[in-house]
This record gives sequence, C-alpha cells and structure tokens, in this order.
Amino acid sequence: MKILNSPSEAITYRKTLNGSVGFVPTMGALHEGHLSLIEKAREENDFVIVSIFVNPTQFLPGEDLDKYPRRLEADFEICRRAGVDAVFTPAPENMYTNDEVLIKAPKVKGYILEGFNRPGHFDGVLQVVNKLFNIIRPTRAYFGKKDAQQLYLIKQMVDNFFFNIEIVECETKREKDGLALSSRNIYLSEEERKRALSISKALKRAAKLSSKTNNIEKIKKEMIEILDVDELQYIAFVDRDFNYINEIKPGNTIILIAAKVGSTRLIDNIFI
Ligand code: PAJ
Repeated sequence: MKILNSPSEAITYRKTLNGSVGFVPTMGALHEGHLSLIEKAREENDFVIVSIFVNPTQFLPGEDLDKYPRRLEADFEICRRAGVDAVFTPAPENMYTNDEVLIKAPKVKGYILEGFNRPGHFDGVLQVVNKLFNIIRPTRAYFGKKDAQQLYLIKQMVDNFFFNIEIVECETKREKDGLALSSRNIYLSEEERKRALSISKALKRAAKLSSKTNNIEKIKKEMIEILDVDELQYIAFVDRDFNYINEIKPGNTIILIAAKVGSTRLIDNIFI
C-alpha cells in the first residue's frame, strides 16, 4: 500500500493508474462505518484510494480540531487489510495557502440544520472535497448517509461544478444496539453512551410511527419523550432535497437529530 504525503505525490501516483478509481475521503480514526465505504469501493473499482485528513477549515473556533482523534498507524493497518491501494495523508500546509479562492456552500441548504449550528462548516467541507476530487480524480467517491446533509451538498457541488464523478451513497453502520458509529463516540463515558442510544431509539420509533401516521407533530412528541440528551439542537423533517416538510412523505423523508450528550455533539438520521 502506497502512502502519499502531499498533493503532488498523489497527483503523480494517480497518473500511473489505468482503470476505475474508488475514493473514500475521511478524517481518520477509522471505524466499521468507514470500513463499509472502503469495502464497497473495493468491490466496485480497480483501485481504491482513501484520504485521511483532519480538515481544519470545517471546524469552527472552539470545536474539537485539536482533540479530534488521530490514529494514523492503526488507520494504515485497517486500510492495508481492506486491500486499499493508496492512502493520501497530506499536511494542512500542503493543502491550504493563506489567501485562497473559496468555495461557498449554498446560502439556504448550506446554512440550515448542521450549517445553522455550525455556520461555515459546509464551506470548509466543500472546499476540501473540491481539492480532494481534483487531486484524486476518482471515478466514484463514497459517502455515508450518516452525514446526510453533507452528502446532499457534495452531490450538489458535483452537479454545479460539472465534476465527472459518481457519488455513491452508503448506509449508516451501527453498533448492535443501534448507536451510529462515529469517531466522536470515544468521547462518551459509559453513562453518556447509554443516553446517546436514545437518539437512534427515537429515530427507530419515528420510522415505525411514520408507517401509521403522516403527522409530524405527533411523531416529534414521541421522539422527545424517548430522547435523554443534554441539549437537543434539532429534530428536523425534510425531503431528500432538504426542503422542510409539513407531513411525512413515505419514500421521500429524512428525519434528523443533532444533540449533545455531555459535551459530545452527535448527529444521526433515518431515511423514511
Ligand atoms: P469522517 O467523519 O471521517 O467521515 C468520512 C465518511 O465516512 C463520510 O462520508 C461519513 O458519512 C462516513 N461515515 C461516518 N460514520 C459512518 C457510519 N456510521 N456509517 C457509514 N458511513 C459513515 O465526513 C467527513 O469525515 C469529512 O467531512 C470529509 C468528507 C472527509 C471532508 O473532510
């Protein structure tokens, strides 16, 4: 497995590849969720490239950029075992200059929900994914539905900038008890983890209820009863294009939750 430490190394390596390239962008601290994306990319492409880059521009001041888990050696081993061809791990100073051309997330859908609670977050995500797409020039790029709004905005960027890349949507991987896998779960104490479980439980209950009723208020009320979090940032009902909806539309609804348990911010969602 090749380790590519700079954009120029990655660009040179990319030129040697003859065949389809599956790309899995990550911030590392790889878990089974990431692995499921890598495995799908492995099945569907001649070559697989994973990027591991804790992207500073998508963290707001005061967020967990400095304490975000970094486990490069363990991540390399996971990639090696999964048959990854190359891992791209650039240093921030090789990815960014001081005064750059900037990508802006769309004014509405980039600034609701996650974008409202983390203003500018998606500008940073799109900035780095744009760079990564230009460096790797993948045939297909793999993203998790766990970050549903991110996935939506990346698809929009691909459309708006005419990238010739197929975006592959991947299901959310969960622990046996339902907790969505996340690199941030390691911040949770045992007691917090138990309460974090109420997020996936509320979503599961909402899915069950929505087979019987389209009434969002009714569903929301039951979800709030189940939730045992310290700060509920939002429960939202949107369609697949992230327009707010007034009632459940079966086959075209996403229910999303963002909440803090202790000081850990968690997000999860379910597609109905
Ligand atoms: P990161 O949080 O490391 O996630 C990398 C990819 O793994 C994303 O597409 C995310 O949706 C997916 N993922 C995370 N948890 C998952 C789970 N439980 N099941 C399935 N997929 C899961 O998302 C980012 O990094 C960054 O914003 C990035 C796109 C790399 C840009 O910096």
